[in-house]
Amino acid sequence: MPWTVAEEAAVRALFERSPDYFEAVEGRPPIDDDASTLFSDLPPGRSPADKRVLGVTVGDGPAVGVVDLVRDWPAPGTWIIGLVLLEPAARRRGTGTRVVATIAELVIAEGGERLRAAAHHRNPGADSFWRSLGFTAVDDDGEIAVFESAAFAAAGDN
Ligand SMILES: CC(C)(COP(=O)(O)OP(=O)(O)OC[C@H]1O[C@@H](n2cnc3c(N)ncnc32)[C@H](O)[C@@H]1OP(=O)(O)O)[C@@H](O)C(=O)NCCC(=O)NCCS
Repeated sequence: MPWTVAEEAAVRALFERSPDYFEAVEGRPPIDDDASTLFSDLPPGRSPADKRVLGVTVGDGPAVGVVDLVRDWPAPGTWIIGLVLLEPAARRRGTGTRVVATIAELVIAEGGERLRAAAHHRNPGADSFWRSLGFTAVDDDGEIAVFESAAFAAAGDN
């Protein structure tokens, strides 16, 4: 699965092609701030150097998706996937599964051991996606379910 370092303008365009996700989770279409927030948002105690925002490419075309990752949160060795988003035309073809396998390989290569992700209950496809990859729910506040997997398990044989 090829990666690029994502650029904010490309992410903004990608978000504009993916309004369904923002309607489901935020109750509104994407706004310009969503792209800048993706680059700047950090969990407590993490620095910009701990964060990667990566574009997902298929073939030679422009990015069809984006992923953001933060290392060592909430615990050393755990990497949190803040967002994995593919534009609608790129979904349900196994690309998301391959993206997570590639993330897992990257995390293992950097010494990480676990992956964490979240699914908003207003976005039931995300819950099904993480479960389909063998992630298990480790927390749920009634609004957001948190999932984890061992990185080696998520790497699969992709
Ligand atoms: C979630 C997302 C990344 C999944 O990527 P994808 O390429 O569509 O997923 P895959 O094709 O690899 O699907 C793997 C399995 O996950 C489950 N799944 C994925 N999307 C689903 C959906 N919308 N509803 C129910 N199950 C779903 C299915 O079991 C699927 O297997 P199947 O197609 O054989 O039934 C993509 O749908 C997306 O970008 N959605 C919008 C953003 C989002 O919700 N991100 C997740 C929260 S961070």
